[in-house]
Amino acid sequence: MITLRVNGSTLETDSDPETPLLYVLRNDMELNGAKFGCGLGQCGSCTVLADNMPIFSCLTPIAMLADRDVTTLEGLGSIDAPGPVQRAFIEEQAAQCGYCIPGMIMRAHALLMKNSAPDEAAIRDALEPSLCRCGTHMRILRAVRRASEGFQEQTSAARERNR
Ligand code: FES
Ligand code: FES
Repeated sequence: MITLRVNGSTLETDSDPETPLLYVLRNDMELNGAKFGCGLGQCGSCTVLADNMPIFSCLTPIAMLADRDVTTLEGLGSIDAPGPVQRAFIEEQAAQCGYCIPGMIMRAHALLMKNSAPDEAAIRDALEPSLCRCGTHMRILRAVRRASEGFQEQTSAARERNR
């Protein structure tokens, strides 16, 4: 039995420890934000965070996640209350088919948690493992820049409050 912590909830699963996390998320937890694309670690559509680090959930066996906090797209906000990165992607209308977007958002979120004011090179570097076959890269980059402004405002508001 393996206990997974996902978006603050726990799931005890008796799935084979080698089962990729993506299947448990989608089939057992009904968390469908992460997508199956290639299953080979080549497209990034399955990206989630483990302890705030992006991982390919299609390649990561659940046995490796026993003591780690997993965050999926659903953990960043909801349709009614999107998180800052999700909101920025909506405002910039960054999605075309949308298939790559969950992975892009998770990578952007992980980056902004570490560095709320990344330069262009850092943003491109962080998103590089995720592919967008629709070619909306420029809108995706704009969305991350917009999200970065939101993160910086949050940070300076928190500093003001703590003075
Ligand atoms: S589905 Fe995981 S990297 Fe493509
Ligand atoms: S929006 Fe279609 S793959 Fe990126």
